[in-house]
Parts: sequence; C-alpha cells; structure tokens
Amino acid sequence: MTALALVETGIAALLGFGGGIWASPGLRAWRRQEGQCPSPTQALADMEEFYLEMVKTLARAVDSKDSYTHEHSERASVKARRLAARLGVAGTAARYVEYAALLHDIGKIGIDEAILLKPGKLTPEEYEVMKKHPIIGHQILSPVKYLGPVAEMVLYHQEWYNGQGYPEGRKGEEIPIGARIVAVIDAWDAMTSDRPYRKALRRDVAISELRRGAGTQFDPQVVEAFLAIEESLEAEKERRGNGAAPPAP
Ligand SMILES: [Fe+2]
Repeated sequence: MTALALVETGIAALLGFGGGIWASPGLRAWRRQEGQCPSPTQALADMEEFYLEMVKTLARAVDSKDSYTHEHSERASVKARRLAARLGVAGTAARYVEYAALLHDIGKIGIDEAILLKPGKLTPEEYEVMKKHPIIGHQILSPVKYLGPVAEMVLYHQEWYNGQGYPEGRKGEEIPIGARIVAVIDAWDAMTSDRPYRKALRRDVAISELRRGAGTQFDPQVVEAFLAIEESLEAEKERRGNGAAPPAP
C-alpha cells in the first residue's frame, strides 16, 4: 500500500468513525461476544484509544516516505506530552498537542520525493514547494471534525514567534500553543538527527542554537521548558549509566 493510500484509508476510517465507535464492525462484534454494554467512561477511553491508533497509522505513513522522519513522529509525541504538561496544557488540549506532534509533517506526503529526499540544499523554487507541507497537512486533517484543533496546529507549526515564518506570518500568541510546542520539538529533533546533507549537531551546539532562536523563531517560554525537560532526561540517563535503577514506569 502506498503512503498516500495508507493516509486515505486512515482518514476514511476516522470519517466513518463519526457515526460512533460502536458502528465499527470489529468493536461491535467484540461487544456482542463479551455481552457487555460499555460504560460511558469505557466508551470514551475506547474512542480515544481508537483515535490514537489511527493517528499513529497516519504518522507511520509519513515516516515511510521520508527516511529522516523514521521514528521522528513517535519521538516528537512523547516529548510533546511532557512539554504540554510542563506548560500547563492539560486534558483534551494536551491530547491534541500530542496528535499534532505525531502528524505535523503529514503534508510531506504531498511533496515530490525528489525534493523531500534531496541530499543537498534546496533551490529557492524547491524550498517554496517544501513550504506547502503545513497547508497540505491542514487540508488532509481538517475534514475530520474531531481533529480540527490538530489541523490548526499542523498548519501553523512553521510559523515564527516574531512573525517571520510561514504560511501566514502569524506571531506570538496568535500562533496556537500546540504549534509553538511542535516547532521547538521539531527543530530539536532535526538538529540532533543525521540529515542527508549533514551529521547531527552536538548536544551543546543544539542547545545554544535553540536558545539563539528563542524570541525570534521560537516562543522563549517553550524553549526554556523544553530545555529543562531535556536536562532532566539527560541527568536521568547519566544516573542510569552509573548503575542507578531505572525510574518506575
Ligand atoms: Fe514541518
């Protein structure tokens, strides 16, 4: 199955889901077999789990197209969850941020592979094509009512805090907080991963790059929160390297 077909299947499943989780033949059968009538809490938990699985399927479709993004989306969502919590984003809003981190580059599905996988620097024309990925991502996700806030975060994840980003040149708090979170996580991941045209940056270089972008490209509060999380993860890693027991799951 091609990546695009995978996305279409995922979207069709999500759209079909609008009629309610019990419309899903598999789940209906399971419920019949169990002879249960789900409690509202259970139904909600099942629904959320179903959405998360579909979102992960869509994210895998993106990963399959771009070797760099392999595991990138999954890593991004784990960090997004922690960062959202640290910034006081909770409940459904936090879930949307997690989904946006998983799906932020879904629009790359619509970008020519010759550009997407080009080992060298992009020409100005190619860069203009690449810049369409947030809009394509928004077009893919916005028909799914439940994912409306996620589609918006995807649309604005390349905006800059000072208004110099794209696609609309929004600035500061005009950019949804989820998009500001995804922007920082995405940049960190890009800097600390090997790319077709360069090796991963050293951790200290990536930290100073992120700090340099605070207030221009990135929301400074999000940068500080992100670096605090990174620091505690690093300290945890070192402790474990020194024989300390891993933290409880
Ligand atoms: Fe992006």
